[in-house]
Amino acid sequence: MAILITGGAGYIGSHTAVELLNSGYEIIVIDNFYNSSKTALERVKSITNKNFKFYEGDILDKDILNCIFSENKIDSVIHFAGLKAVGESSKIPLKYYENNVTGTITLCKVMAEHNCKKLVFSSSATVYGGNNVSPLKEEMPVGATTNPYGTSKYMIELILTDLQKSDSDFGICLLRYFNPIGAHESGLIGEDPNGIPNNLMPRITQTAVGKFPYLTVFGTDYDTHDGTGVRDYIHVVDLAKGHIKAVLKLQNTAGLFTYNLGTGTGYSVYDLVKAFEKASGLTIPCKVEKRRAGDIAVCYSDPSKAEKELNWKAEKTLDDMCADSYRWQKNNPNGYGK
Ligand code: NAD
Ligand code: WQD
Repeated sequence: MAILITGGAGYIGSHTAVELLNSGYEIIVIDNFYNSSKTALERVKSITNKNFKFYEGDILDKDILNCIFSENKIDSVIHFAGLKAVGESSKIPLKYYENNVTGTITLCKVMAEHNCKKLVFSSSATVYGGNNVSPLKEEMPVGATTNPYGTSKYMIELILTDLQKSDSDFGICLLRYFNPIGAHESGLIGEDPNGIPNNLMPRITQTAVGKFPYLTVFGTDYDTHDGTGVRDYIHVVDLAKGHIKAVLKLQNTAGLFTYNLGTGTGYSVYDLVKAFEKASGLTIPCKVEKRRAGDIAVCYSDPSKAEKELNWKAEKTLDDMCADSYRWQKNNPNGYGK
């Protein structure tokens, strides 16, 4: 029995593929390479020394999904495929809703038709919106999202909740990721954003390899220990391991389960810059600008539910995250060169 990984060539998907293969699972990947490269899949094979089946295609395409489920015995699906750029989502909202929401509905319809009813979904801390006070807990109200990307994740959570209510055979885990950074310690796979990165860590690593003269710090007037925004950075390999625990949870249990995947510790922009400088031996020049629209001061998780119910806990430190992010970028200054 295999696990289907949608979006398996992407940043989190490729790291999860490695952890699954290393743990002895059979995997099948579908990706349309909208935001990724075939090279990532080749690297997954070379890290693990294992092979797997791959379909190039779109989750909006019911025919290819039907073909995948007909040709293979699929036990569970880990659903990463989605568009994730917050700023872009306000410019092309329909594409985001179609890809993320319609894509998930299409996938779930085909799953149900083939009686595959175990789904692990990539949700996001963004569903907590700006009104809750950290540490964020799963039972807090969600939905005060501020951009189409975040709203698409919130909508999918609602849709999957209704699906599970309508068919109690479904087992669904909604995993709310906090801020994934870091890379596989081999330096062979990592985050390779299209164009100019929006997120902090890729911006730091690309500054480190000379692609930008400085890092723009968006606001030093927040009510935090040094005035910069505080986030819950989590190593992508820890995050990947959380997916295996979610798959295991669904082996024997139907139902809908929601888990935060974070470390529970908040670090500021300057904390991250300092840790990166220590790990790399470099200096990252910083230039302060005004706050970025839509940003909140502080966002970090209470990850205790995942520890209690999934027996999962993030293990890697901020230093590990910085060293691994730097190694990936230094070894691959142009990412996968896609
Ligand atoms: P990513 O862009 O690196 O990976 C997503 C993958 O899905 C890419 O390989 C892309 O080509 C593929 N894809 C997109 N639409 C597709 C479609 N219609 N059909 C087939 N393939 C498609 O992103 P990531 O950082 O690995 O994120 C994975 C998931 O986790 C996404 O759903 C994202 O929204 C969610 N998430 C990411 C973060 C983060 O900060 N990285 C945080 C919270 C949640
Ligand atoms: C982190 C901190 C910025 C860039 C986003 C999405 C969220 C989730 C993760 C998918 C903030 C500051 C950033 C820069 C900076 N993705 N910053 N200079 O905004 O917490 O979360 O990615 O679900 O939905 O919104 O992450 O890395 O963009 O920012 O000063 O060049 O770094 O202001 O305080 P964010 P981020």
